Amino acid sequence: MSYPQQKLKLGILGSGRGSNFIAIADAIERGELHAEIMCVASDLKEAPILAEAQKRGLATYACSPSRFKTKLEPELERELSQKLVQAGVELLVLAGFMRVVKEPLLESFKNRIINIHPSLLPAFKGLRAWEQALHAGVSVTGCTVHLVDLSLDGGPILGQTEVPVLKNDTPFSLHQRIQEAEHKLLPQILQKIATGRMILPGS
Ligand code: GRF
Repeated sequence: MSYPQQKLKLGILGSGRGSNFIAIADAIERGELHAEIMCVASDLKEAPILAEAQKRGLATYACSPSRFKTKLEPELERELSQKLVQAGVELLVLAGFMRVVKEPLLESFKNRIINIHPSLLPAFKGLRAWEQALHAGVSVTGCTVHLVDLSLDGGPILGQTEVPVLKNDTPFSLHQRIQEAEHKLLPQILQKIATGRMILPGS
């Protein structure tokens, strides 16, 4: 397949372990994703995702500490957004970012922010979606890649993978199985965007 000359310039935003970031970086290294990571940023300077990015020689950025748990102050989000723009980011990937994204980022990256969520949206929005699925007693759950807008986990869906819920699943075992699916789905969707096989809504 012939690729566009320019690689897709990615920014990654995460608050945790960064296993989805690692899946993206590994797919790039294997030549399966026509993209480059311009910056990995976090709201928490001690987040393992930043250490992992530094180990790989990537540019990183940590926001100054926020007074809030679930969002950033507008000035912190504006600063973060400026850093990502300066780094040359075209598409921003939320990979376990634990804050609600507001106008500063949504305006700088209009229709260019995507998120990975651990359920088959619109089912089980919000936190610990795998636990919500277990409590609901469903036999199939999964993961979703979607465009981010002001709604909670409600933007246009770009791709989904089903994951079975097994009889003896614990929250941990189910989350692990969902994450394995996430690590495949997210790089696949990004590759479709990078190679022009998926056009993002509104762009
Ligand atoms: C993933 O399960 C993702 O669905 C959710 O946050 C988790 C991030 O995990 N949004 P990791 O930091 O990529 O390992």
